[in-house]
Amino acid sequence: MASSKQAQAGGGTGWGAGASASADATRLRRYPGLQALMKRAKRRTPRFAFDYLEGGVGDEICIERNRRALDAIEIIPRYGFDTSAPHLTASLFGRNYALPLGIAPMGLSGLVWPNADDAMAAAAEKAGIPFVLSMVSNTDIETIARIAPSVVWLQLYAVPEDDYRVTLDMVDRATRAGVHALVLTLDTPMRQKRLRDLRNGLTVPFRPTWKTIYDVARAPVWAFSTLRHRQPRFANFIPYVKGSRRPADVAGYVDRHISGAVTWDLIERIRQKWQGPLVLKGIQHPDDAEHAVKLGIDGIIVSNHGGRQFDAAPAAIDLVQTMKRRVAGRAAIMLDGSIHSGLDILKALTCGADFTFAGRPFLAATAALGQRGPAHLARMFEAELRGVMGQVGVTKIGDCSALSRRMNRSEDFYHLNPVIGKGGSLVGDMPGSANGDP
Ligand SMILES: Cc1cc2nc3c(=O)[nH]c(=O)nc-3n(C[C@H](O)[C@H](O)[C@H](O)COP(=O)(O)O)c2cc1C
Repeated sequence: MASSKQAQAGGGTGWGAGASASADATRLRRYPGLQALMKRAKRRTPRFAFDYLEGGVGDEICIERNRRALDAIEIIPRYGFDTSAPHLTASLFGRNYALPLGIAPMGLSGLVWPNADDAMAAAAEKAGIPFVLSMVSNTDIETIARIAPSVVWLQLYAVPEDDYRVTLDMVDRATRAGVHALVLTLDTPMRQKRLRDLRNGLTVPFRPTWKTIYDVARAPVWAFSTLRHRQPRFANFIPYVKGSRRPADVAGYVDRHISGAVTWDLIERIRQKWQGPLVLKGIQHPDDAEHAVKLGIDGIIVSNHGGRQFDAAPAAIDLVQTMKRRVAGRAAIMLDGSIHSGLDILKALTCGADFTFAGRPFLAATAALGQRGPAHLARMFEAELRGVMGQVGVTKIGDCSALSRRMNRSEDFYHLNPVIGKGGSLVGDMPGSANGDP
């Protein structure tokens, strides 16, 4: 991460004349935002791989809804403070992270770019932000824990076979590997219809068709890189497969056995087994959040799986404030879904989120720029967040929720009078609390 001194050299953010003529600066000129990275990722990957990354469930209305809800948020800046050196550090479960942002779990990321798990984990370690490895990753948890020892988290699904022996064994492996937090994903009780994957003939195990062969031929860098690194495997599952452990056989095992809901019973069993922070991902109803808190859950990721599971799901950002109120400090509230910039992070924080995650942007950055991609994106998010925080008059992550904002134009700004403290800075601990929260 850029130090605040370095950042100030570029007018506080690294955008201005102070940005050095280094490779980083050149990359920033060429890929100044997520759109440019997505465009290059699309050019470099076969159609079926890019569609797997970008697509969602059904008509992809939920993806659009996530985006539109964030776009609609307005924030009133406060001026007159020295905001030249904002502190972006966010603490979560007793640890400090460099930004209130982590990399969301993404299974089968090796299909999008070979060894993407390793590249994203290395970038997260360097940037000091959490990396959540998916249970259906292509590199196993032990290897990722060595690459990213200070930021590694693990996400699990339910594997009901043999009384959940695989899921429960993964909890033990997480303990041995030194994983910081365990994430249980609840919003995938059923497999859903993703039209792009159906159209592209994308199946697990992968069965090449003339169309996929044609797609691969049009993406030579991806093809050579995949040949060099070999076909992606579901690495965490290899120890559980009896008989042949060829990639197709392991994929067949995953396809047959990973299914069904993470139930409240299973959550209770994992809570008893796992001593570290336990997070539920995909919670959308405040009653589910309440139930989670009663079971001793430490954090909730408000999420609709980036619009990949249920097209009628509400925009995740629209749920944050209610969730925050209901949980009332008993668990951390995190958000993912269409976090595309530092401004989106700020918007989430003003709505009451303690932390955010981004998925597709980091994988797209890896497909676009290889190993350098996710590090480039983390730097970009950091500089953007630094810039927008300074612009609106806050210097600490914890103060962002004191800003006045509205979710849509028909709403009033919730409160227009946050207190200005002794040092002349904005403070968010006014009576009645920020943004109308009780
Ligand atoms: C390619 C891909 C694979 C994913 N795989 C998983 C997974 O294995 N486990 C999980 O909990 N979520 C998975 N997700 C959902 C992400 O963790 C996250 O909720 C979502 O991507 C957030 O939206 P964003 O991509 O707009 O940032 C996946 C998302 C993508 C794009």
